[in-house]
Amino acid sequence: MSATSRILCPTLKERVMSAEQAAELIPAGANIGMSGFTGAGYPKAVPKALAERIKRVNAEGNDPFRISLWTGASTAPELDGVLAEVDGIEMRLPFQSDPICRNKINTGTMDYVDLHLSEVSQYAWSGFLGKMNIALIEVAGIREDGKLIPSSSIGNNKTWIEQADKIILEVNSKQNIKLEGMHDIYYGTALPPNRKPIMLTDPADRIGEFYFECPPEKVIAVVETNAEDRNSPFKAPDAVSQKIAQHILDFFEREIEVGRLPKELLPIQSGVGNIPNAVLEGLDAGPFKNLSAFTEVIQDGMLKMLKSGTLGVASATAFSLSPEGLKEFDENIDLYHDKIILRQQDISNNPELARRLGIIAMNGMIEADIYGNVNSTHVMGTRMMNGIGGSGDFARNGYLSIFVSPSIAKDGAISSIVPMVSHVDHTEHDVKVIVTEHGLADLRGLSPRQRAREIINNCADPSYRPALQDYYERALHSGRGMHTPHLLSEALSWHERYENEGHM
Ligand code: COA
Repeated sequence: MSATSRILCPTLKERVMSAEQAAELIPAGANIGMSGFTGAGYPKAVPKALAERIKRVNAEGNDPFRISLWTGASTAPELDGVLAEVDGIEMRLPFQSDPICRNKINTGTMDYVDLHLSEVSQYAWSGFLGKMNIALIEVAGIREDGKLIPSSSIGNNKTWIEQADKIILEVNSKQNIKLEGMHDIYYGTALPPNRKPIMLTDPADRIGEFYFECPPEKVIAVVETNAEDRNSPFKAPDAVSQKIAQHILDFFEREIEVGRLPKELLPIQSGVGNIPNAVLEGLDAGPFKNLSAFTEVIQDGMLKMLKSGTLGVASATAFSLSPEGLKEFDENIDLYHDKIILRQQDISNNPELARRLGIIAMNGMIEADIYGNVNSTHVMGTRMMNGIGGSGDFARNGYLSIFVSPSIAKDGAISSIVPMVSHVDHTEHDVKVIVTEHGLADLRGLSPRQRAREIINNCADPSYRPALQDYYERALHSGRGMHTPHLLSEALSWHERYENEGHM
């Protein structure tokens, strides 16, 4: 099916043009809201054409042509990569994971606002970010009445369409047209003091519409594309990930035994990556049936769980499938159609819903300290890795917040358990469980001193455990504050040593 045959609205059919022509309509300095959440549903042609235009204009020695780029979350090299490469991004929000972007951020040539993903639309609606000039949104089709069939991610698209002065649409005929009906776009949000409760009490609930409303008069261009989403292939879980997954599975079993979790668990939220994938595989191999997920992204592991019946329903804002996962989904979409619901990210990550549903949040971290504070974003306290993403939305508001990491990084030169984290994303108040390959620290109900013993003994690598114990004991006997004992002049010395000597 060609993209043209997916543009059924006569008015919008008249606005079809090439990506290059559409890119010409974007002014320098524009705030642009683009679709895209992980490598799914991002515009595939106009960003590249825009990058080429920026490169051309800047080579002519004119005032630098740059834009501010707002998305749902990370995207792909065809969006973040190409625009960062030509120094076309002045300011980026709310999340990225692109190596070129990361480099520009860490060398100070790109500003980056790292936001809780649930909060981005509120920021835009409240005017905290300035005016959005253009929305550039990939869709799977345009209906005769002008409503838009969303593509493989929703992210902030609803907000961008509503907030932007002008809209450019990319209609991607590679997106499975049977995605139609899998989305749930909720039009009941409002700013305080006019907010009402969000009437969703089960991950399977539908509270909205299948389509985006889109005023045709705002649409200045429609571009046809035929390009696949791009996500990395999954690596098979390694031994460390499998050990971490096993600790979590054992923990779930104990919680069920003592009656703190039902046998169907509670809705799962799982970050992307090797370890979360190993946990999903472990759940799939275990006795669990009819679980639910209320999460950000549907990854390969969740498709397998839906197919086997381990998972009954999955609610998310985007797919994040490897090429094999995408093939499996496309070929068997009928099986998945009614078991997956895609929502906008201010609903998929909503704090009210995370608290009500009692999410089990499982996310990766860079480091944790002996008192349970977690750094998810900054390497050695200063260099941005990706961003906080949705981890804060789920960790603070969920029923259980679990943070996972290998106990060491860079072949053992770095300990992931440190005396004091070099940056805090999740405070000790938000972190309930920490897991490494060596074990699990259940921090619920523990004082800081009890937490320190639990984390050092259960989670630290044996090669770093004596040094952590020594730090803690000396802090304890320093005659200073006994609630959270620290040696202030030494607390960050492990990071300092790594920066100077290449090991902690
Ligand atoms: N200090 C320095 N570097 C560290 C480190 C530490 N304590 N721990 C890990 N790293 C490095 C690794 O060496 C690796 O570097 P490389 O890419 O140069 O090899 C990189 O960080 C990624 O580590 P890895 O072990 O592969 O972890 P991951 O892919 O599971 O990612 C996070 C871990 C923390 C970066 C990732 O989970 C993240 O971005 N989290 C924040 C957002 C989030 O939670 N999203 C999900 C919410 S829905």
